[in-house]
Amino acid sequence: MCGIIGYCGREIAAPIVFQGLKRVEYRGYDSAGIATLSDRSLLVKKGVGKLDEVNSQKGLDAIPGNIGIGHTRWATHGGVTEPNAHPHCDCSGEVAVIHNGIIENYQELREQLISNGHRIASETDTEVIPHLIEDEMKKGNSLKAAVLAIAPRLEGYYAFLAISSREPDKIVGARKGSPLAVGISDQGFFAASDALAFPDYVTELLPLDDHEMVVLTHHGAELFDAAGNRLQRDKRRLTSRWGEANKQGYRFFMLKEIMEQPRVVEDAAAQNKELFTDIALDILRAGQVIITACGTSRYAALVGRYLFSKVGRKFCDVVMASEFHYFADSVDKDTVVLAVSQSGETADVIEGVKEAKAAGAKIVSIINRPMSLLEDISNHVIYLNCGPELCVAATKSFLSQLVVFYLLSFSMINAFDKAVNNLKRISSEVSKTIDWNNDKIERLSHELKTKNDFYYIARGINFAIASEGALKAKEISYIHAEGMPAGELKHGTLALIEPLTPVAVICPDDYTYNETLSNAIEAKARGAYIVAISDRDNEIYDFWIEIPKVDELLYPLITVIPLQLLAYHLAVSRGYDPDRPRNLAKSVTVK
Ligand code: F6R
Repeated sequence: MCGIIGYCGREIAAPIVFQGLKRVEYRGYDSAGIATLSDRSLLVKKGVGKLDEVNSQKGLDAIPGNIGIGHTRWATHGGVTEPNAHPHCDCSGEVAVIHNGIIENYQELREQLISNGHRIASETDTEVIPHLIEDEMKKGNSLKAAVLAIAPRLEGYYAFLAISSREPDKIVGARKGSPLAVGISDQGFFAASDALAFPDYVTELLPLDDHEMVVLTHHGAELFDAAGNRLQRDKRRLTSRWGEANKQGYRFFMLKEIMEQPRVVEDAAAQNKELFTDIALDILRAGQVIITACGTSRYAALVGRYLFSKVGRKFCDVVMASEFHYFADSVDKDTVVLAVSQSGETADVIEGVKEAKAAGAKIVSIINRPMSLLEDISNHVIYLNCGPELCVAATKSFLSQLVVFYLLSFSMINAFDKAVNNLKRISSEVSKTIDWNNDKIERLSHELKTKNDFYYIARGINFAIASEGALKAKEISYIHAEGMPAGELKHGTLALIEPLTPVAVICPDDYTYNETLSNAIEAKARGAYIVAISDRDNEIYDFWIEIPKVDELLYPLITVIPLQLLAYHLAVSRGYDPDRPRNLAKSVTVK
């Protein structure tokens, strides 16, 4: 979380840094700031709000100087206030630091600093860094030597960039456990939490590993190890680039990304058959298969588990990434771990995968964003190919994950081509589902927008879709929502159903129809308002969202669409920005 970027070159830094921050704003958007070095002075501007708001109040992109660092924040330590926004400075106002990660021992360091006379201005963990650098520089150390000296004292994980008016020709960066990409171009040198933050003219990267540091000057980017020894690394071409994503006329990215889904199915299905066959064989041969993921990606994994069992006759388990560590004792070299992550940098996923890898497991990752931490630690990588997903709530990446699991399960029975053909046909059914229902669901959202509790039920392969529908409603429309297997309702949650409580019932006309309908009738008998997502009408529905009939293993790709639309329209009709939900960020790089 938190987006960081630094630039050192011939151009005026602030506008370049600002544009870079715009490209990483999905990482956090509660406050923002930029610091530059100009005429041997440190200039800092920061404020609370989304990047454009802070810029219009403070003029972030108008600060002079050819060296600049910028930050967009997702609060972890300390509330959303201007003093807590980055960059953070030392007592003398000579050093500024931006940081992504968490300094776990910051309280202890902070107490030491205060007892040594430092004035701490914020509640953040980050602020200890500039003060520690200040102490080192007072001893006569250079900025680089100061960073080298303090790095071993920082517990936790970080990627940070530091500048000092005492050395107005450089940016010093360091990383441990958080991403920091180094970019090279004719117009200057960059470091950022995400290479996608770099402008198009950055064509080369210098790989930087944990416990290493980078010094950017007008002349180049130099890498050093933890002892300060210069490292020689081959440059890598920056091959993957998403370019500028815009809303293409849609009011919000979320709607645009939902609407892109017919195409997304085709793009996600454009996979390498040999790679899928190899991975499928590994899965079939493995002593055990574990899928690990968080949030929406985990719901895709739950559909995947079902497909593996139904098609490939291979049972596997899905372990929530934040809980993976507690099961790590059972992982061995006979284990295949599939890690599913749109961003490829979710800290919980990375942590679990590292542990599994250390135990000898084979790692297969299913990722959307190129050049991620997860990519670097995987034996095989499958890309979702769905392009940048800029709304914080995942939609099109979820559909792409479902496509990948469908292909993998059919690869287990040597039927990759058949699966691709089936998916080609489903793309038009996704279109139909959107066309039939978008306006209708908007009207429904106005009817339901004052409700405080929603329930989502389904069975079999669609059960995870119920959970995903509830997650979407919670995160962007701030409505309490629960998704569960329909059969579970009567084991407790039914007590919460009151007259007109909305219950979304996913009941395609398949082998689950009759039993799911019985559960819906039980809810209706307690007064529930039944919103049915089905290709078959029934008199018990209060509101019918009609979907096309498809093969039963492909229903999840269809049934999730109306639930995405419902969450979107509920958010908008309740007056919220679905792209930037409160308290959330797209890449969750903290544990
Ligand atoms: C929900 C959502 C989150 C993510 C979760 C995992 O809409 O976006 O629940 O799915 O944070 O993120 P990735 O897939 O990047 O690991």
